[in-house]
Amino acid sequence: MTLPTAKPENIARVKTRGLFRYPGGKTWFAPSLLRFFQAHPPELFVETFAGGAALSATVLEHTPARVWLNELDPDVHAVHATVYSDHAPQLAQRILDFPFRRETVLEVLHATPRTTLDRAFRTLVRNRVNRGGILAPGAGLVKKGENGKGLAQRWYPATLAGRIAVLHAHRHRVTVTRGDALSILERTPFHPGTVVFVDPPYTAGKKSAGKRLYTHHQLDHARLFAACATLRVPWLMTHEHDEAVMALAWDHGLAWRPIKMTSGHGVTAKELVVARDFTWADLPEQPAPPPPARMPSLFPQDDVPPHVRSTRG
Ligand SMILES: C[S@@+](CC[C@H](N)C(=O)[O-])C[C@H]1O[C@@H](n2cnc3c(N)ncnc32)[C@H](O)[C@@H]1O
Repeated sequence: MTLPTAKPENIARVKTRGLFRYPGGKTWFAPSLLRFFQAHPPELFVETFAGGAALSATVLEHTPARVWLNELDPDVHAVHATVYSDHAPQLAQRILDFPFRRETVLEVLHATPRTTLDRAFRTLVRNRVNRGGILAPGAGLVKKGENGKGLAQRWYPATLAGRIAVLHAHRHRVTVTRGDALSILERTPFHPGTVVFVDPPYTAGKKSAGKRLYTHHQLDHARLFAACATLRVPWLMTHEHDEAVMALAWDHGLAWRPIKMTSGHGVTAKELVVARDFTWADLPEQPAPPPPARMPSLFPQDDVPPHVRSTRG
């Protein structure tokens, strides 16, 4: 388990646990993050630009750490806030009961949400029917899809409800906030034992893709690097493979390494990991720590639909 610098990390090797199909999602980075934890075991893991929060799902599954998820986009935030609230069973049930047809989907997409639960449901539907899972304005709907399934090609209600139940079972370890990651990084007096993960929208370079992927894509990247450089707790950043990012790292006395990943479509892409140093990546392998004791489920049994119960074991 070393950093995927020479051989790309194949996304198919890493199990997906999150709820979203998120553009720029970091499921594939999980093995590298777990390696970082060998040097810096977390008591609290902070995902500052949560997006689909793929790595928080990994942390909840593989470590006993507490998790702080932060996201600026109110639609994305609504999903995390609901999953770790008492409304999670209702969200799961609404997904299972949804009569998925083109008309009902369009109705949900055009409705104004009245509650956080409504907003969470609309976001999940949008994430499943938009091309590439893109939630930013202007993203188009999936057209034909696999096996002529059209819009429904990514609508897996039982899987989604099951994942909600699994994530919700960890809710006493999770805090969800909606805020600006820059302010959080600059102002929070993080305690020892905290590990911070930073995965900003990729909008630092001239040809960056992030602008069309996220509603909230504007970011002062120089300010972000300055904030990370002064953090007193261990942190890691993933960023786009771009000279502008390397220059920012250089300016702030930080180190970077190119890493590779192969997408589900077999396309290999290069990204960067930015860190204070890479001593952790070069340490010899250590045996994996034992898995944490099974967390008691807080999901009220009677509210859980049968499909969900069977996935929880
Ligand atoms: C690259 S994506 C994160 C993907 C995530 N790591 C995952 O695995 O799904 C960047 C996220 O940052 C959010 N974002 C943009 N500006 C932000 C800010 N100032 N504070 C917090 N989140 C922000 C975007 O809405 C987007 O969801």
